[in-house]
Amino acid sequence: MSVRIVIGAQWGDEGKGKIVDLLSKDADYVIRYQGGANAGHTLKFDETSVVLHLVPSGIFHNNSKCVIGNGVVIDPTALVDEIESIEAMGVNLEERLFISETAHVILPYHKVLDQVKEKRRGKDAIGTTGRGIGPAYVSKVSRTGIRMIDLLDEETLRYKVESNLEDINASMKYIYQEEPLDADQITNEILEAVQTIAPYITNTSALLHEAIDSNKTLLLEGAQGSMLDIDHGTYPYVTSSSPTAGGACSGSGIPPTAVDHVMGITKAYCTRVGNGPFPTELDNNEGNNLRKKGSEFGATTGRPRRCGWIDLVALKYAIRINGINELTVTKMDVLDGFDEVKVCTDYQIGDEKTRIYPLDLSKVEKAEPVYKTLKGWATSTRECGNFEELPENATEYLNFLEDYLGVKVKILSTGPKRSETIMI
Ligand code: GDP
Ligand code: IMO
Ligand code: MG
Repeated sequence: MSVRIVIGAQWGDEGKGKIVDLLSKDADYVIRYQGGANAGHTLKFDETSVVLHLVPSGIFHNNSKCVIGNGVVIDPTALVDEIESIEAMGVNLEERLFISETAHVILPYHKVLDQVKEKRRGKDAIGTTGRGIGPAYVSKVSRTGIRMIDLLDEETLRYKVESNLEDINASMKYIYQEEPLDADQITNEILEAVQTIAPYITNTSALLHEAIDSNKTLLLEGAQGSMLDIDHGTYPYVTSSSPTAGGACSGSGIPPTAVDHVMGITKAYCTRVGNGPFPTELDNNEGNNLRKKGSEFGATTGRPRRCGWIDLVALKYAIRINGINELTVTKMDVLDGFDEVKVCTDYQIGDEKTRIYPLDLSKVEKAEPVYKTLKGWATSTRECGNFEELPENATEYLNFLEDYLGVKVKILSTGPKRSETIMI
């Protein structure tokens, strides 16, 4: 038995989907604990590619039960689309998918609010995915949210939608100058989705406690990344949930004392989608080269991802915040063929040189990365079946990361497919 949290250690899109799918081979339960359909987790099989937004990445292993935990915000129509596309691939979800009855619902008004608020922010826009995530968590925290269990009672649902729309429609009219939303239309749309979802709604906290008591193997799948965390990320350019290790416990009901391992996933370089500071960003040909070689376009919105060298100052911070004790490095193959590769070891902020990630955003915005330049490698890492076969300079690159970060690399990913992986 073990309980392992898998976390994106950068700004998201580190390859969590691929790694969670791989690890799910030995997992009894795979649990999403935060975020919503802003996530896009890609799984690549021989001929097909699947992008999951809400359903945990263990769904293609029959041995794994997949849980959408209480910390997730669920867009019912997006979930129905996802369920239908998974079923179309021949996967039976009965007794495989479990949805927390206390997870909050993303309603159409949350998506509208997300979009109109972004428009109003103008040059200060966050660059959200427009999936209603922020407004849904606002409803949750302000105690006007609608939970999955409310969907099972039509009268309660109608009442809550109507009463929430009183405030929202007033703001639509007077603040955003947008058309009011219709309670009946929203309720009917949700009720239609409920027909598909209802059988999966249950008390997942009790399910997981029983799993822990029976010594099962649990895998908690983070969405987004540590640097997008509402508390520890580059606020306000963050998502509205807690992708960090603490969020895994509050978003699932699994106690911290049950957790054995925290695996952090990092790309061999770094990307970010949306706005906000990114000290190692390469706004030049090298950045374009990384984007092209790494196919760095968002799995949810299709937006080009901003690319840069790996940032060890930010990564060390993520390791400390999450207690990461295992590291996975993905997209190593994307660095193949570079004459030299750079790693950011320090930030120069005015006269100060530091390895401590500053919490003052204005300092992060001013930070100039200090790089250590390492030799590149000409041969491909993709065909390497084990660590010993790696080009010498690739091994040196990984050794440098391990020494700086004080954590061992346990998994190395050298391509998007399951087989393109070295387990150490
Ligand atoms: P996630 O959100 O963390 O699950 O990551 P995404 O799926 O959004 O983005 C990762 C992308 O990189 C996907 O297109 C994956 O198929 C791909 N990928 C994952 N690992 C590797 C790797 O080692 N090499 C390459 N070239 N692609 C990878
Ligand atoms: P996965 O799980 C990368 C970013 C958005 C934006 C900010 C806030 O695939 O790694 P939101 O819609 O959450 O309010 O947007 O967070 N963002 C992600 N970036 N990967 C993700 O998910 C992301 N989910 C949200 O681009 O900057
Ligand atoms: Mg993604």
